[in-house]
Amino acid sequence: MTATMAAGLTAVQAQEPEKKNSIIPEPVSVTSHEGEFLLTRASVVALSGEDLLSTASYFSGYMEEYLGYPLEIRVPNTKKKESVTGEICLVNSDNGETPGGYQLHVTSEGITVRGNDASGVFYGIQTLIQLLPTRAGVLPIVPAVVVEDYPRFPYRGMHLDVVRHYFPVNYIKRYIDYLAWHKLNYFHWHLTDDQGWRVEMKCRPELTAQGANREGEIEGLYPGVYTPLPYGGYYTQEEVKEIVRYAADRYITVVPEIDIPGHCMALLGVYPEFSTTPDEPKKAALTWGIYNKFNNVLAPKPEVFAFLTEVFSELCDLFPGPYIHVGGGDECAKKWWKESEQAQVFMQENGLKDEKALQSYFIHYVQKVLNDKGKILIGWDEIMEGGVSTDCVVMNWRRPGYGIQAAQAGHPVIMASSGYSYFNLKEARRQQEVAHRGYIPVEKVYTYPIVPEELTAEEARRVIGTQACMWTEYFPTPAKVEFGVFPRLAALSENAWSVPEAKS
Ligand code: ACM
Repeated sequence: MTATMAAGLTAVQAQEPEKKNSIIPEPVSVTSHEGEFLLTRASVVALSGEDLLSTASYFSGYMEEYLGYPLEIRVPNTKKKESVTGEICLVNSDNGETPGGYQLHVTSEGITVRGNDASGVFYGIQTLIQLLPTRAGVLPIVPAVVVEDYPRFPYRGMHLDVVRHYFPVNYIKRYIDYLAWHKLNYFHWHLTDDQGWRVEMKCRPELTAQGANREGEIEGLYPGVYTPLPYGGYYTQEEVKEIVRYAADRYITVVPEIDIPGHCMALLGVYPEFSTTPDEPKKAALTWGIYNKFNNVLAPKPEVFAFLTEVFSELCDLFPGPYIHVGGGDECAKKWWKESEQAQVFMQENGLKDEKALQSYFIHYVQKVLNDKGKILIGWDEIMEGGVSTDCVVMNWRRPGYGIQAAQAGHPVIMASSGYSYFNLKEARRQQEVAHRGYIPVEKVYTYPIVPEELTAEEARRVIGTQACMWTEYFPTPAKVEFGVFPRLAALSENAWSVPEAKS
């Protein structure tokens, strides 16, 4: 546990001072017993199978890095019917119960973590880590306890915008560690936008050769001052694979986002001919725009659809998870299609009654590319504007009403309403250090009604979870990002994981 986590603990604990344990997110039940167990350098971690090796290595690595105690790992030979014995036993019960659920038993004899599945064992280890001292030198004594636990929602996410500001691979891993410590399981990686294209595409190397760089930077507090400081950076496919693996070892799935048909000026900077104004390069040029609602959008041309097929197919091959986020129309200015003769002719030829229907045409097109690769489309709530099939997942970022509408229409929904979930908004009204209007105190994050009361039981089941977002226009460094993310990440974690009865 770090100082930042400790800060999170304090904030949430303040709500119920008599509580003895300080595990975040709060488990379903924690029962303390007499006694304690001392981990030593001789303690062996025994596993029920090789599927738990990455979790055991993670735990041993944690013990070595933070407490100076690497632990030996032993996989029993199940062919010889050796049982899992040792002071620390990790068992995947594979019992078909809630994925991620686990029991942690600590007695004076040893420690057992039983997971409903392999991810449950990993979460049990996270709970165990929170029972350990936070610094080397203090003996790693764990109090005797029985913890029974399982997550409230299957989707518990955190987002990072690496476009407005780029963060190196090592920091992305650090950020993924923060998610893992909080039992979050999806990392939404916002990879393209108006201000840059940050993922290497073998099919279109120019996207990063040109589109990863921009001419200027905004410096200082909101609204900031434009400075002609060349700025750029991107992730190679090798780096992406490294990050995906790193996340998978922590039971975190990476959800990549390529934003279309709006929020794509970096792409239009590389291919001005894809815009609705190819003869006016300035309107299609790579610019730094803080307010990008009025930027140009993709034109419905054959070469644009060919591009979308190539890029999204390659993206599906690069990211093994089930979801691809397509943005899908957030703040997509329809005026460009209204003013474009080419777009109007396309709409007539394809029986599209208005520009919202054209936006849906783009979404349907990409959805087919994704579905052919076995993937599920996620889009911001604007994807519903012109109608979209209910197997698309809606990520609600505007008012909660749009999340309600999505669940009522039959979509799986991820609740991330900006008034509760945008950690780039400051934490207190008077806070000066960060940007954007409005503020979201930690209590508001903690009490976000993820399942709105308006929903029937059947509709409520469509809410698959929640996530928070970190948009980085005014967060140029890891230190600033952490200033925004903590301690609210702890509140998000508890709201996403802990069943309402367990929450204080
Ligand atoms: C968004 O904030 N435009 C999703």
